[in-house]
Amino acid sequence: MCGIVGYIGNQDAYPILIKGLHRLEYRGYDSAGVALIDGDQLNIYKAKGKVSDLEESCTSKNIAGTIGIAHTRWATHGEPNHINAHPHYSQSADLALIHNGIIENYAVLKEGLKQKGYTFQSQTDTEVLVQLIEYVKTSNKTDISTAVQLALKQVVGAYAIAVVEKSNPDLIIAARKSSPLVVGIGENEYFIASDASPIIEYTNKVIYLEDEEIAIIRRQEPPKIVNLNNVPKTLQITQLEMSLSELEKGGYPHFMLKEIFEQTRTLRDCMRGRINIDNNHVALSGIIDNKDKFLNARRILILACGTSWHAGLIGEYLFEEFCRIPVEVEYSSEFRYRKPVIYPDDVVIAISQSGETADTLAAIELAKNAGAFVYGICNVVGSSIPRHTHSGSYTHVGPEIGVASTKAFTAQTLVLIMMALNIGKEKKTIPQKQFEKILLELDKIPDKIEMILEQNSKIEDLSKIFTYAHNFIYMGRGYSFPIALEGALKLKEISYIHAEGYPAAEMKHGPIALIDNEMPVVVIATNGHTYDKTISNIQEIKARKGRILAIVNKYDDKVKNMADYVIEIPDTEECLGPLLSIIPLQLLSYHIAVKKGRNVDMPRNLAKSVTVE
Ligand code: AGP
Ligand code: GLU
Repeated sequence: MCGIVGYIGNQDAYPILIKGLHRLEYRGYDSAGVALIDGDQLNIYKAKGKVSDLEESCTSKNIAGTIGIAHTRWATHGEPNHINAHPHYSQSADLALIHNGIIENYAVLKEGLKQKGYTFQSQTDTEVLVQLIEYVKTSNKTDISTAVQLALKQVVGAYAIAVVEKSNPDLIIAARKSSPLVVGIGENEYFIASDASPIIEYTNKVIYLEDEEIAIIRRQEPPKIVNLNNVPKTLQITQLEMSLSELEKGGYPHFMLKEIFEQTRTLRDCMRGRINIDNNHVALSGIIDNKDKFLNARRILILACGTSWHAGLIGEYLFEEFCRIPVEVEYSSEFRYRKPVIYPDDVVIAISQSGETADTLAAIELAKNAGAFVYGICNVVGSSIPRHTHSGSYTHVGPEIGVASTKAFTAQTLVLIMMALNIGKEKKTIPQKQFEKILLELDKIPDKIEMILEQNSKIEDLSKIFTYAHNFIYMGRGYSFPIALEGALKLKEISYIHAEGYPAAEMKHGPIALIDNEMPVVVIATNGHTYDKTISNIQEIKARKGRILAIVNKYDDKVKNMADYVIEIPDTEECLGPLLSIIPLQLLSYHIAVKKGRNVDMPRNLAKSVTVE
């Protein structure tokens, strides 16, 4: 999920690598490191924190060498610190490796290597890979590129890697699967990077590696691309036309749009290693390790703020429906000052993208002091909340740069869905058939999100109609009620248009007085057991000339004939509906804000992480 840079040529590698890491800083990271080959020396320097901290630690070191690799880490396994930072040495210190992604089966591989006498310095999944490559190389008496091919065949997960070998100072090996990697073709010099931004100032000729492809990059020779079976591939060189700023956003105009479009991949990353469709299995290690807490929970308390609080509301519906455990969802800021009643057999779930939200941290301490078990759902490994909770699950969506949360929200919701399925299965409160049906459908969600994203330009056209509006109402029932709240918050925080979300039935108790022919009303009217009730609410709005934009399932002609505008999304299980219905609302808010000339990635008055009260 973070940054890789490599260089081999006739210039000093270090300045190129460091500058490349700076170019990748926008991606967010927690530590950095570099490996350089100078003569018979393979030197690795690493630092927790920023690239500038790495530079400082290198001032008195030997940074010579015309070949090297460098990395900015976004931790997934092992908290951010010097030991866990990349590059990682192999046992013999003859290899150095950097890695973006997650080795899902690292624990099994690590166990096997330990039995063969390998020891490990770090807690990372990455170190297992470099040891595996060394083991394969020595036990098969083969060269490094073959060893990488053979080792990667044993790996399950996502990777973009680069490897250098002390005794082979004219060679860099790079490979990718589900994590991007680009090779830059210069004049007698070659580059590798996670995206083209560190490369563009040296060359605009690049090769985008495909999944399970390996680049064998030798000094003075054009790179060789092979697959894991050593079948060569003809070089497809692309001429880059993008600017640096466009490159940093992956070609998107804003981080927020990039992160909305990343959700197809990030939800796969979030499910990775946790869901197995073939044997109908959901397993979150945090749940398995603390099963008794959840099976005997008297109540579940969910603590969060903002968007994370909306995810928590979805959790309420999930846990009550599938686990039959009473749930209360609390704003952390209210909970911490309300002198709440907390029981030792309460299970508290704290949800936070940043892991640094002051109110949620304080609420966690209150719950812990009362003896409750606290479980975190967080995106930033090693941040404060994971360090202050008893256990938890990471969302694994990579850095979320846009202040308005998008991919973190869908991943939080997905973790809650997997938790409810995991616990419901253990408690036998979810019928097996329903469990299997939901699991099968969950596996299709990323592709269904892709189908919604394909409507981006249609939603952009729709947004033009609403830029006039000064107020919006969003409404939904059941699982769609938190989506109404989240859709309203997205619009509010990036377009500065006032918007409120309501349970659809609540309109009659006051808010319907707001409806007139100027008022846009967004209704989430997807399939569910309250669909007919939502239809009646739409009729009430229509009777008062409200302008209705409805989110409906494909081929829903009933609502189509009632609403002024519709966005059709694929059908899915009711409890998975939030993962899909929020996507068009993210896009709608984004395009309205862009048309209003707002600073979409950094809206006024907002911070990405509210670390103060
Ligand atoms: C969401 O778009 C906002 N940026 C904000 O509401 C955010 O969700 C809230 O501050 C909580 O942040 P956290 O998830 O990092 O704790
Ligand atoms: N999973 C690896 C680690 O936690 C790589 C993380 C990354 O992509 O930066 O070290």
